[in-house]
Amino acid sequence: MQEPPAGLDKLDGRGLSSSKSPLGLDKAPGLDKLDHRDKLDHRDKLDHRAAFGLALPDYPWDAMAPYQQIAAAHPDGVVNLSIGTPVDPTPTLIQQALVAAADAPGYPTTHGTPELRRAIVDWFARRRNVTCLDPAQVMPTVGSKELVAWLPLLLGLGAGDVVVRPTVAYPTYDIGATLAGATSVAADSLDELDDETRARVRLVWVNSPGNPTGIVRDVAQLRQLVDQARELGAVVASDECYAELGWGRWDVEEGGTPVPSVLDPRVCGGSAANLLAVYSLSKQSNVAGYRAAFVAGDAAIMANLVNSRKHAGMIVPHPVQEAMRVALGDDAHVRDQKSRYRVRRAKLVAALEGYGLAIHHSEAGLYLWCTAGQDTWHTIERLARLGIVAGPGVFYGDAGSGYVRIALTATDDRIDAAVRRLAAEARA
Ligand SMILES: Cc1ncc(COP(=O)(O)O)c(C=O)c1O
Repeated sequence: MQEPPAGLDKLDGRGLSSSKSPLGLDKAPGLDKLDHRDKLDHRDKLDHRAAFGLALPDYPWDAMAPYQQIAAAHPDGVVNLSIGTPVDPTPTLIQQALVAAADAPGYPTTHGTPELRRAIVDWFARRRNVTCLDPAQVMPTVGSKELVAWLPLLLGLGAGDVVVRPTVAYPTYDIGATLAGATSVAADSLDELDDETRARVRLVWVNSPGNPTGIVRDVAQLRQLVDQARELGAVVASDECYAELGWGRWDVEEGGTPVPSVLDPRVCGGSAANLLAVYSLSKQSNVAGYRAAFVAGDAAIMANLVNSRKHAGMIVPHPVQEAMRVALGDDAHVRDQKSRYRVRRAKLVAALEGYGLAIHHSEAGLYLWCTAGQDTWHTIERLARLGIVAGPGVFYGDAGSGYVRIALTATDDRIDAAVRRLAAEARA
């Protein structure tokens, strides 16, 4: 990933620590102090890392602090559209299921209760056109981020092995490769790799609908990827956590086509061999705080994953398993939540385009992938001056340069505030 302006050294040259921003506006008060303190923190972290710990990059979102500070100074309050964290209430029926299972003195099952596994299999059949799964081939995970981060290690990958991830991607795919000591390679097709690299590919991440771009891979594209990976003897792990949030031609409720799963028979030929589908309830059911997700696929790989995760204690708490079971059986709350996002999305699309941002891809999911044709940080600062915090495209790989990511995950009130500010700026 391209270095964010972490350590804030880069920011010094970008206007935040100089007296004028790229827009020529006065800098926010107190930023000198903040830069100094963050630089010290950064050195502390480096020292600590040298003594103990893993050589993982600093968490990039720390670099957003100065822009958050600018946005927070807006007289009508900040609108944070930078992180895809749900803000609407967890549906009552899911809360009730959690509470009803609160008496849980014994250890939970790693593989998932039979009832939960049945609910996952039924959900795949009902919502994703996936019929090749036996309940043995599914397992709950502690949110999908942990599975993404640990999968390469759990698959036994290590030095010399290549993990392929999309060119603009959720950063945890890289972290997973690093944790395993494998090499992460950014590519959107295996055709982009040279022969030597191709021969070392052991795992291919596909993320459709993609975060942050909202790109959706159709059946033919997924099928080609699966065929090529199988030829190489590699695993395809498909992170599909935004699949229920399709827009336009992918919006099922508006007459569109469902976003295909890697386990759809038209993609996989009816066999889950070499394939894993990763799914999360965080977004569709507003349960990011529960850590509720699951993985499904290749029978032999799943049996191995279940065994390893038993040893490692990677277990979803029983009340959460029960909440998941109930959530997966109810499509109405997913439809209601999606309707909320559809309205917010339409408002934001109009306001952002009116303001001068072009929106690329964004066919599904919770984000608008936008560019003003300018440096990412310049756009981030312009929006921060309107009290709007956006996500920097460069956090998702070098190919995200020039882009910002706008999340739909804010309350109606905050979305309306952002829309008013963008519209006023467009008129000015
Ligand atoms: C592409 C992608 N995968 C996985 C996750 C992790 O989701 P969770 O850990 O909440 O299940 C996210 C969260 O934003 C994501 O965008």
